[in-house]
Amino acid sequence: MKIIICDSYKELSQKAADLVIDRMIRKPDLVLGLATGSSPEGLYANLVEAYREGRIDFGQASSYNLDEYVGIAHDHPQSYHRFMEDHLFSQVNLSRERIHFPDEEADFAHYDRAIEEAGGIDFQILGIGPNGHIAFNEPQDRLYLDTHVAQLTPSTIQANSRFFDSEDQVPRTAVTMGMGSIMKAKEILILANGPKKVEAVAPLLRGDRVYTGSPVSLCLLHPNCTLIVDREAAGDLAK
Ligand code: GLP
Repeated sequence: MKIIICDSYKELSQKAADLVIDRMIRKPDLVLGLATGSSPEGLYANLVEAYREGRIDFGQASSYNLDEYVGIAHDHPQSYHRFMEDHLFSQVNLSRERIHFPDEEADFAHYDRAIEEAGGIDFQILGIGPNGHIAFNEPQDRLYLDTHVAQLTPSTIQANSRFFDSEDQVPRTAVTMGMGSIMKAKEILILANGPKKVEAVAPLLRGDRVYTGSPVSLCLLHPNCTLIVDREAAGDLAK
């Protein structure tokens, strides 16, 4: 795993955008795997700016989002559809027919097949939950490979409640890509910032073991994965 430690969230977001922009220029029909959450917000803002400046074009690109809550409407302020709409889709020329979310399939297995038929994800963007989850693959003994419905853990419900009026309103389940869906991506970029991510990032910085109690640690096995982290999230392990 390639590790880049940044001094600020601004620098992290710029470095992340530089990578995505480079891949989009090299392959205009890039298949993007997209994450929601606060971590990639700066990256998306930079991509919108690059699009406005004519440095990138989404005309031939396509996207597959990682996850979506079950039980809230797509226009709910906290739905991941709405997040993507606000932060990226409404501001760039990514064609509607080429935007995909896992909960739109009646049969979730079809989502993984659709990704395969599209040639696989070229570039997967990931955030990390404070407990080491990626998408909604929560720490547990057995991790699912394919897209599935996941139960959120109490710690994730609590972590994500900051976006809702109260903890009661956080959905308890979500449709999520599985670990296999994610690990099949040709390239992965993981973003983590802030002091709440110290424990989640530590297994990646130590880099000496993988375990299902830290789903993100499995990314250590991926042949083309970059972690961009700020000094706060890297904590004492920052060199
Ligand atoms: C959610 C999402 C994850 C995301 C994580 C971290 O639980 N399902 O995909 O990576 O939160 O979010 P944030 O970037 O806001 O810390």
